Amino acid sequence: MPTKSANTATTGTGTDTSSTDVQSKTEKDATLKMGNANVEKSKMKNAPLHKFFVDALKDIYYAEDAIVKALENMQEAATTEELKDAFEDHQLQTKKHISRLEKVFKSIGETPEKKKCDAIEGIIKEGQEVIKSTEEGTMTRDAALIIAAQKVEHYEIATYGGLVQLAITMGHDKAADLLERTLQEEEDTDYNLTEIAETYINFEAEQEN
Ligand SMILES: [Fe+2]
Ligand SMILES: [Fe+2]
Repeated sequence: MPTKSANTATTGTGTDTSSTDVQSKTEKDATLKMGNANVEKSKMKNAPLHKFFVDALKDIYYAEDAIVKALENMQEAATTEELKDAFEDHQLQTKKHISRLEKVFKSIGETPEKKKCDAIEGIIKEGQEVIKSTEEGTMTRDAALIIAAQKVEHYEIATYGGLVQLAITMGHDKAADLLERTLQEEEDTDYNLTEIAETYINFEAEQEN
């Protein structure tokens, strides 16, 4: 039967392939695979969403650096030890956020780079205004500083929350995990600041005249 003989012939050719041929085929496949991986990599790097993701990372990398300096000023300006301590603790965490971001850049084959973030500049400027417009040593200043700090946290929460989801979507598991850890710390900080405000600072501020 012609069909059967054709099948046999095909099988025969496959079985008779010499080891040299197999090796060269494997090498060829590997080269092809590497080629495909490179094509995939450059395709990924040129994808609009990837470009946006990297841009957003540069933005928050700049922001975290600016926040370290802002927290220093806020710590000095705060009235209560509790709030000073909270700012100091979060400053240390923020330094960790910076090194985590460097790992995120590396995990996706990008170089860590800062890009000026106008939003954080504005929020920090508002925090400085709060210091100028409130009296030193008052609870009103602390109440106002907490709100200023929470504006920073909310900006970070919005950014990291979005970046975690994008990293998951794009299959950047390691980046997603690192960003998620920072997101959790920002959320905890926001919660702690509310606790500090509500324990006594807001009440005492209300008594000031
Ligand atoms: Fe942060
Ligand atoms: Fe933060």
